[in-house]
Amino acid sequence: MDTPLLDPFGRRVEYLRLSLTDRCDLRCFYCMPKGFSDYETPEHWLTAGEIERVTGAFARLGVRRVRLTGGEPLLRRDLPRIAGRLAALPGIEDLSLSTNGMRLARLAAPLRRAGVTRLNVSLDTLRADRFHDITGGGQLRRVLEGLDAARRAGFEPIKINMVAMRGINLDEVEAMVAFCLDNGFTLRFIETMPVGATGSAAGAHYVDLGEVRERLERHYRLLPAVMNGGGPARYVQVEGTDLRIGFITPLSQHFCDTCNRVRLGVDGTLYLCLGQDHRVELRPLLRAGADDAELRSAVAAAIARKPERHTFNETPGQVVRFMSQTGG
Ligand code: GTP
Ligand code: 5AD
Ligand code: SF4
Repeated sequence: MDTPLLDPFGRRVEYLRLSLTDRCDLRCFYCMPKGFSDYETPEHWLTAGEIERVTGAFARLGVRRVRLTGGEPLLRRDLPRIAGRLAALPGIEDLSLSTNGMRLARLAAPLRRAGVTRLNVSLDTLRADRFHDITGGGQLRRVLEGLDAARRAGFEPIKINMVAMRGINLDEVEAMVAFCLDNGFTLRFIETMPVGATGSAAGAHYVDLGEVRERLERHYRLLPAVMNGGGPARYVQVEGTDLRIGFITPLSQHFCDTCNRVRLGVDGTLYLCLGQDHRVELRPLLRAGADDAELRSAVAAAIARKPERHTFNETPGQVVRFMSQTGG
């Protein structure tokens, strides 16, 4: 391995989130606006080979976890092929995927075979009518079928991501706990983040997850727990069960001091922080025929510009890109 990637704040970058498309087949109101069509042109999408090269450069610099995201990554036709190539890269120990689950019924088994092991599925409600409203027309049944297929395919763990929103789904906290207990899934609650105009609007439904935790403590004893993952969730285990619950609290208790990640957009833009606009374009370099050493030095130079943290609380609404561009 070359010199590992250390940012100016002494944090080691070892987790790369790869957005494989900026398109999505749902329109969750907090993520992507209805009628959105300002997509990246296909000529700008990194090809499977380019994605493999960039990821290989990161792996040489000590990145060992890769998460595939979107938009909705299952819309990318060559996804199993890309996953297979990334899983085979020396140094990559953990290949995971975040999805809305709509297309999992067909793709779960091929993805597992390609080497994806961990799966995070967004699911904000267990009520079909509500799911339809939150997602701008999605069918809950498809996600539930997808989750069944994922379990049969052997993903471990399967995590359910529920963005907690007052007036939208907060009354389903207990139902979601029961659902995850029954199915052996890990449950994560997420605070809404003001990313893009949609995310800022969702701020009206913001819930401090301390409140959710207190509510859970009325029913269950929660023990501190650890969980295989590299992300920002803080976990507890429900005493007497296998259920683990994670809290992702970017606003009430941010986790930037232990940040270990950067994001690559579908067009080769490297985003250095979810909550800031700092970015470096890698596509021009790739397409100008840069060699591997040049690519690695561009990556290292980019990491040297990683900001310290988001400033959602201080300057809400400052980030212009939509969550769908970088998959969270
Ligand atoms: P693992 O821990 O590896 O399972 O994944 P993860 O929780 O990092 O990934 P996932 O795609 O499931 O993201 C869950 C939520 O955490 C999403 O709402 C993300 O936007 C949020 N999240 C993930 N990484 C960061 C981060 O670096 N900063 C902030 N503010 N939020 C993040
Ligand atoms: N705030 C918090 N989480 C969000 N996600 C998408 N947009 C937002 C937002 N504005 C979540 C999705 C998915 C994860 C990858 O990011 O629900 O579970
Ligand atoms: Fe890292 Fe930025 Fe996320 Fe904070 S907001 S954890 S610095 S990516």
